[in-house]
Amino acid sequence: LTPEEKKLLLDSIRDIPDFPKPGILFKDITTLLNDAKAFNLLMDHLTERYSDANLDFVAGIESRGFIFGAALAAKLGIGFVPIRKKGKLPSTTIAEKYSLEYGVDEVEIHIDAFLNKEGARVLLIDDLIATGGTAEAAVKLINDAKAECVETCFLINLTFLGGVEKVKNLSPVYSVLEVI
Ligand code: PRP
Ligand code: MG
Repeated sequence: LTPEEKKLLLDSIRDIPDFPKPGILFKDITTLLNDAKAFNLLMDHLTERYSDANLDFVAGIESRGFIFGAALAAKLGIGFVPIRKKGKLPSTTIAEKYSLEYGVDEVEIHIDAFLNKEGARVLLIDDLIATGGTAEAAVKLINDAKAECVETCFLINLTFLGGVEKVKNLSPVYSVLEVI
């Protein structure tokens, strides 16, 4: 992406102060999705980046990772796998806990999500990496389901929170935009 293209993407993301809590500057990607030029630029960039990566699946993290992940999987002509918050997936699952600022949460994947294709090549995608706990748990789930996480891809990396440190030992990390 050129600096101008990155700027177009950054400008399409809306900042919401004090959401969901006082002191948090929330990155609202609904305005990017609503902007056909920005959304298409992003999806074309990701399609180009991963078209020769020999991927078998794209896995997306609920909920905003579903939007980009499903669109990318369709563009690449491969399957999509949802990684969901606890209690949402109907068949047999594996679960992984991760810590939040206060307390813990849990994500799940279907045990047969990768169709028992051992060593399936998977790209993990989410809209944003903050502390990295969610993505770390998601990579572990992919590995527990006997697949390989080839790369972890984020639209936005909040670099000041250092989340990449948690993930990079498990999978290479790519982010389209960095917020410092
Ligand atoms: C946000 C964001 C990432 C996660 C990053 O999702 O979309 O998934 O937090 O945080 P971390 O790096 O500190 O783990 P959220 O849990 O708010 O849920 P949502 O996507 O369903 O809105
Ligand atoms: Mg999320």
